[in-house]
Amino acid sequence: MSLSAISSYSDHHKLALKLKPILVGELYLARKLQHPVYIHKDGLFVTVINEGSIPSKEQITSLIKSSHREVYVYSEDLNEIKGNLENALIKITRSLSVGDPLENGTKDLKLLSLNLSGLYQNPHSDELLMLQFQSSQNLSKFLIENRKHQPYFFQNLMRENFHFTVSQPMLSSILLLSFLQAIHLFHDKEIENLFLTSYLKDIGISMIPDLKYDLKSLNPRDKELFANHADFSFDLLEGRIPLSKNYLNIIRHHHFLNDRMKGLVSKERKTDHDGDMIMGLESTLVAVFDILVAMTNERPYRKGQSLFQSLEVIKKMMADDYPQEFKALVVFLKQFFKN
Ligand SMILES: [Fe+2]
Repeated sequence: MSLSAISSYSDHHKLALKLKPILVGELYLARKLQHPVYIHKDGLFVTVINEGSIPSKEQITSLIKSSHREVYVYSEDLNEIKGNLENALIKITRSLSVGDPLENGTKDLKLLSLNLSGLYQNPHSDELLMLQFQSSQNLSKFLIENRKHQPYFFQNLMRENFHFTVSQPMLSSILLLSFLQAIHLFHDKEIENLFLTSYLKDIGISMIPDLKYDLKSLNPRDKELFANHADFSFDLLEGRIPLSKNYLNIIRHHHFLNDRMKGLVSKERKTDHDGDMIMGLESTLVAVFDILVAMTNERPYRKGQSLFQSLEVIKKMMADDYPQEFKALVVFLKQFFKN
């Protein structure tokens, strides 16, 4: 990688005004760049890919390996990349069942995740939200049909090493869908809706500044922002997507198990101040898979825990209310992660 830094103080600030962040993986969607691509290193913008070139696989993987999550591009390039990404996602969504399911599913998961980061940056765009909704709805049908490939899709997405804000919603939703299918208590349409509920539940984190995600400790105001992300998700989604109030309420309360563990909500309380249900099997399962994926994956400030350790915590959270489902969960996870 050839590096050249913009070191003049005023040039640096002029550049900062023009550049926009994108995920490194989005560079795969770039054609010929009109401007250079930069990383931000030690307070300076450094050119990592020259203008006029097409980012190569080697350049992109080398950036990922040197743990650069984001790069910076000019808006002309940004708009082209985002447009290409949307078109590629629309195309794969329409032809998901045509051809090799392994290849299609892998590609779709990658494009959906990259596009989700775009929705975080622009949560009020109806167009982006509908694209995410329709694509993930199609994906849920595809995953239900391709049951035997679910562990493969899960592992493949894990390997992409996307930032957890982008990967966790999808990873937890794949597991949830797979479990719901395994326990035979739900119709396909309910499984589909719960998949969407789980996938969209964290949209509210788009209200939290990017830099805060990777911090180990937060000040009280930031803590409050994080604590409110479920409410933000509800507010952002209400009236904009075709999911019924029941599902939106699951989104609003998707951290109720954590809150109960912390003693913020009493165990007996089954409804919120509007009289809406907060505790039911569906909401428990949405929450459980979220916690499971969060605990077993690494964060910049902590290591991931083992499946066994996570199950110990989850047992405390759900086994009293749902002993049968907890047992089924243990059996299911053994099966899902057997390789
Ligand atoms: Fe959440």
